[in-house]
Amino acid sequence: MSQVQLSFDDRLKQLPTLGMGISTEFGALSAPNSLDVQRLKRELPLCAEVLEVGVEVAKGIDSDTLQWVAESCPTTYHFLDINLAEPSDFDQLWLEGVREIISQINPAWLCGDAGLWHHGPRAEEHMLLLPPILSRDSAYAFADGIIQLREETGLEVFPENPPGHVFVGPLHLLDFFAIVLDRADTGMLLDAAHLTIYQDFKGLPVTTGLSSFPLDRVIELHMAGGSVKRSGELTFIEDDHSPVILPGTWEIYETIASSLVELRAVIFECERNRFEDCEATLRSLRHQLDHKLPQNSSWFRRSNEFTSIR
Ligand SMILES: [Fe+2]
Repeated sequence: MSQVQLSFDDRLKQLPTLGMGISTEFGALSAPNSLDVQRLKRELPLCAEVLEVGVEVAKGIDSDTLQWVAESCPTTYHFLDINLAEPSDFDQLWLEGVREIISQINPAWLCGDAGLWHHGPRAEEHMLLLPPILSRDSAYAFADGIIQLREETGLEVFPENPPGHVFVGPLHLLDFFAIVLDRADTGMLLDAAHLTIYQDFKGLPVTTGLSSFPLDRVIELHMAGGSVKRSGELTFIEDDHSPVILPGTWEIYETIASSLVELRAVIFECERNRFEDCEATLRSLRHQLDHKLPQNSSWFRRSNEFTSIR
């Protein structure tokens, strides 16, 4: 039986714990006032255990990521260009590009926002990110795409709850993803900052829906800063990845931490900020992870798993 035919519980046993890290996209770490990764690795190595690489196949991999890989440091592959719910988006040219990048960065798994990454054909001018329609049929379509990408790559594919200020469909975001996870028999990348934005948009307490959500399926967690903005009568949270995590996002973390028994990676999305501006939050987050996650969780069951599978 191949790896992808096993149940998720069995596949999970093969999945390494990567730890805490940061994210990047093509060119982000070389942009003005961006995070100095070498300094991060030197001064806060426990906050630089993994690099989540945002990938648009057409752009490829930048030199900062290649250097990270050359130093034998773990990565995950965060896709930025696939509409999982559209079978026609899985064209052979794109899949060949995905496999090429996998061979370059050797990611532990694939992950990314389950939404629409482009409108119309995949082309530079068409790239955007729209949230999914929150219906059961839509959840099934996303699950089919996750299974297909898993089978095409031989790697786990963890959907992320995307950001957005307008959502359509009858389901709560967490109920939608619970269906996706069950149907695709997979785990999830929960973005706590995106969830804060969603709950705020819906006028709900930030922890709504979490008590019935399968938190043991959260394999990766994103934490990120945001900013409260005002436009006329409208107040909203912008997903700007600023260095300060909003209170609502911390509240989500506090609420779920003791249930994250299968957590294997935590990413603080801060790469477009200077080290000096991120340092306090990076230290605080690492402290919270080591003190709030359950002692019997995968977070504390690390060995040489990653090096053994490379
Ligand atoms: Fe995220």
